Amino acid sequence: MQSFDQIFPRKNTNSVKWDSIKATYNKEDLLPLWVADMDFMAPQPVIDALATYTRQGIFGYSVVPETLYQAIQDWEKTHYNYQLAKEDILFSPGVVPSIGVAIQAYTKAGESVLIHDPVYHPFANMVKANQRNLVTSSLKIKDGHFVMDLVDMEEKIKDQHVKMLILCNPHNPGGRVWTKEELIACGRLCQKYGVIVISDEIHQDLVFAPHQHRSFHTLDPEFAEFSIILTAATKTFNLAAVKISMVYIKNPALKKAFQAVQNATEQNTINTFGYVATEAAYQKGKAWRKELLRYLAENITFTQNFLQTHLPKVNVMIPEGTYLMWLDFRTYGLSPKALEDKLIQEAGVVLNNGAIFGEGGRGFMRLNVACPKETLAEGLERIRGVFGE
Ligand SMILES: Cc1ncc(COP(=O)(O)O)c(C=O)c1O
Repeated sequence: MQSFDQIFPRKNTNSVKWDSIKATYNKEDLLPLWVADMDFMAPQPVIDALATYTRQGIFGYSVVPETLYQAIQDWEKTHYNYQLAKEDILFSPGVVPSIGVAIQAYTKAGESVLIHDPVYHPFANMVKANQRNLVTSSLKIKDGHFVMDLVDMEEKIKDQHVKMLILCNPHNPGGRVWTKEELIACGRLCQKYGVIVISDEIHQDLVFAPHQHRSFHTLDPEFAEFSIILTAATKTFNLAAVKISMVYIKNPALKKAFQAVQNATEQNTINTFGYVATEAAYQKGKAWRKELLRYLAENITFTQNFLQTHLPKVNVMIPEGTYLMWLDFRTYGLSPKALEDKLIQEAGVVLNNGAIFGEGGRGFMRLNVACPKETLAEGLERIRGVFGE
């Protein structure tokens, strides 16, 4: 088993997280604690499977192996008691591309799509890029974490004739793992008004006990009638570069409409490295994931303690899932731009500016703790040097 403490040099590997900094900020030696990928090597069985495939040296067109379907079905059943038939599973180059397909398949130009605020920023981008009407419902902060405002959501759904909700389950950037009760309440609301739910569950496997991920399809058999699930092994196992995701659709009409858009753009065949990596990860990555969760939980506790001791003015949302921490810098009274500038120019660290996730993210920053402890400690020290008392 790899040591998650090991530091791998990622500079000059064409990494977005490490190598786009210079072009973005025109500055060297910034420490990247942004972009949601991890500074850890993928599980050895995944690397081995990709190496075996690479070594045979012929990269012709390939079919989806039966063993991949089985690996996905086993993973979902074992971890989430989510029963999938082979026919329910489609593939796509990514969760974000699938959001684009879903928007085109289930809504028309000008129709309203609801998202929460703040939320993973490509949701808003995809809605706007497809000329749909973006409707947002602000999340509320209660007992130190985000909750949905169902009253506001219902008003918006009625007033704006919302056709689709894109739900982030678990939630990025807040690290919220929605409970069964919350998801059922949200689902009932959408069911009542005929709103199609696109449930982005890419963070499903990055959840800390006692919290438990619930796939939207497992809450009530009726929910599968008006929802689809988007997920992938790429976030869990640090495989973003292989570009693959899954789409789970049980309703034949929703499946047909989704496939029609995929077929029209030939988006239904995936690169074979994606198949190989996903199968190996789901078949042989269980122990690695367990270790990963343990390590991430330690990093979260470390960050929480560090902030409490050295930066008590920074309020932190304790994640129930994901490796992302939502830091509240509002007591410093800085604009989003001034806050970002201070972190970049003075502290020398790159976090994601909370404002990109919506109005509710102004004054917040998103910290990625999926890195060796030494890197994390260095980043936190840099922040302390500028924002500490
Ligand atoms: C909620 C969420 N959805 C989707 C993605 C990206 O998915 P993909 O790379 O498969 O498009 C991310 C990446 O950070 C994410 O946080």
